Amino acid sequence: MGEGIGDYTRNLIDLRRHMWLEGVEVELRRLIWQIAVVGKYISAKIHESNRKLAGFQNVYGEEQLALDRISDEIMKNKLQFSGFVREYASEELEDIIQIGSGKEKYIVTADPLDGSSLVDTNLAIGTIIGIHKESVMDCGRNTMVAALYITYGPLITMIYSAGKGAHEFVLDREGEYILSQENIKLKEKGSIFSPGGLRRDWNPAHLKFVEKLESDGYKLRYSGGFVPDINQILIKKGGLFTYPALKKAPQGKLRLLFELQPMAFIMEQAGGLATNGDQDILSVKVESINQISPIYIGSSTEVQLAKQMLS
Ligand code: F6P
Repeated sequence: MGEGIGDYTRNLIDLRRHMWLEGVEVELRRLIWQIAVVGKYISAKIHESNRKLAGFQNVYGEEQLALDRISDEIMKNKLQFSGFVREYASEELEDIIQIGSGKEKYIVTADPLDGSSLVDTNLAIGTIIGIHKESVMDCGRNTMVAALYITYGPLITMIYSAGKGAHEFVLDREGEYILSQENIKLKEKGSIFSPGGLRRDWNPAHLKFVEKLESDGYKLRYSGGFVPDINQILIKKGGLFTYPALKKAPQGKLRLLFELQPMAFIMEQAGGLATNGDQDILSVKVESINQISPIYIGSSTEVQLAKQMLS
């Protein structure tokens, strides 16, 4: 007998139920859920097609879209009244701000709208979140208890990890995040690569590494959005993303606290690795909230090869 619609519905697992089944601690569960709800609000703002510049630059000297600032405001306001967050650090702000009474359990880092330069092109963009229990100015491996990102593409998807694997959910028409892949596991080796930065600015060792991937037949897959590029590697179960040290920017471009450490947390939970070429990304000490770092992230074979060729 085929499955009736009732059986189908019973088999769906939504985000809240999944976190409960996984034994995620109750406050962390509620916090992750609230952030996922913010993802719905941000996506509604994206759909209003507001592509105007805000008339401000962020701390990295990049033009902010009105959408960047709105997304940050929505995130901050929601977390401020969540009862679970004492400090909030956002890529859009200059400093960590206290948003709770000081007694709340968690500190949240947010890149509320990553890849906003792609908004006008209608390519996928995203939100990246790290959840810490101690100060973020420390080593990510010790203080991060969960991370998640949301991809705003043709579908809205979310991947979270609370330290027990990485799981993907799809936002359905009823506004529920429904489990689509549990325990994503990368293969040891992939077949795609996403190299950031201009070839002419790469260092010789990095250039050799990329040439090796090319001669081994890796396919180029670079969208210019960190979230969809990482998501592609996780969903295709392998491959490598890199934004390396550049001749004029030895620390590369991407933000350690807001972009790299949350993605490294998720990638490691999926059996992958992330390094700056020398040290694991999650072991790099955060000394300033605006710290940037080179990155090699993805399946283990490619990341190990990068380490070997760069050393
Ligand atoms: O950090 C912002 C960001 O847009 C990332 O999402 C992306 O990976 C990177 O910058 C793209 O940089 P570039 O435009 O130099 O390729």
